[in-house]
Amino acid sequence: MADTSPIGIHDLSFATTEYVLAHTALAQHNGTDVAKYHKGIGQRSMSVPAADEDIVTMGAAAAAPLLERHGSENIRTVIFATESSIDQAKSAGIYVHSLLGMGSATRVVELKQACYGATAALQFAIGLVRRDPAQRVLVVAADVSKYELDSPGEATQGAAAVAMLVGAEPALVRIEEPSGVFTADVMDFWRPNYREAALVDGQESITAYLLAAEGCWKDYTEQGGRPLEEFTAFCYHQPFTKMAYKAHRHLLNHCGHGVDEDRVARDLGLTTAYNNVIGNSYTASVYLALAALLDQADDLSGQAVGLLSYGSGSVAEFFAGTVVPGYRAHLRTAAHRAAIDRREPVDHARYRALHERSFPTDGEEHRTPAETTGPFRLAGIRGHKRVYETRAQRPPRHSQIPR
Ligand code: COA
Repeated sequence: MADTSPIGIHDLSFATTEYVLAHTALAQHNGTDVAKYHKGIGQRSMSVPAADEDIVTMGAAAAAPLLERHGSENIRTVIFATESSIDQAKSAGIYVHSLLGMGSATRVVELKQACYGATAALQFAIGLVRRDPAQRVLVVAADVSKYELDSPGEATQGAAAVAMLVGAEPALVRIEEPSGVFTADVMDFWRPNYREAALVDGQESITAYLLAAEGCWKDYTEQGGRPLEEFTAFCYHQPFTKMAYKAHRHLLNHCGHGVDEDRVARDLGLTTAYNNVIGNSYTASVYLALAALLDQADDLSGQAVGLLSYGSGSVAEFFAGTVVPGYRAHLRTAAHRAAIDRREPVDHARYRALHERSFPTDGEEHRTPAETTGPFRLAGIRGHKRVYETRAQRPPRHSQIPR
């Protein structure tokens, strides 16, 4: 008989960058009315990686607290979801596995489908735990959102990593069985292998998102999912936080509910607090929305939360999570707020210089300036190999510091 014990998110932690750029500084630079950013797209600031930060340093920083609390003995799989890949062959997860000193009896893989990747990782993790409930899976979602300078997408940039420990009898959120999925071949956002910045048709991407939201909701109901009224809150992928509002209004209309703005505010209000100061973290974004909701809501014990994950190109999935009674004792609210508050504001010129930075491709040794105060840093590149180091006082178990 199939094991039906609940499986879901046992612990969740996020990390973001060393620096932050306020949208007031961006607006001042390009002569835009700042209200377009604050109200029009719902963004107040964006996380900016230091020269020695990337998806690996953020991913390891997000995951380290999970391993400190739970150990790594039962983790036999690490799934790293990203669309900001640093290598076409090697998984960024292997660097994280090494920096965290995890055991060799682990499978590590990287997944990609734009901003949807982490949801695929979560669902695949649930499948693995269903097969062996004694195992846990570490899911790391990390991205640096980078558009061309002075392009419409620039104001929606950001960077962050979310790490989730997926297991049986989870302490935070049980992920329910029915899932609604949707795929359509559209070119709303993409990044060819030879480009660092993504290409995007912004208005097309909004239309594609809404179509996908409708499509995965339709499939969700056909799979026997809950009716809309049963959800206490909805966590959407938030490329900019106003997109969640657009999507939710669209879904309410589609379901024949009409749009009651008080209801929309109630359904989404607590989910945007992290994304509106971090910016788009691509595949991590929907899970930052979940973190913001769990960290701020009074008590969601036993209540259903809807999650809508969208990745351009495009794939979307709607699924439900039930919040586990007692979850508040396991939250990392103070650490999450500290990750946001510790960022150092940069002016526009510094942000621009960081944006334009890229590694030479000559295979020589290039060291990065020591900027981050986070636990891990990208020390440089040598012989086409990225070199990471741990900034802890004591030497790491598997040091990668160049000799
Ligand atoms: N005060 C208040 N609101 C203002 C404003 C002002 N002075 N000026 C403009 N706005 C509003 C607009 O009305 C619009 O809101 P609406 O969509 O509810 O009508 C919003 O601000 C954005 O304005 P718009 O002219 O559409 O901005 P844009 O052409 O610069 O593009 C994006 C916005 C989101 C398309 C662009 O940032 C982008 O390409 N982002 C990357 C792709 C992305 O995030 N896609 C989302 C789906 S994955």
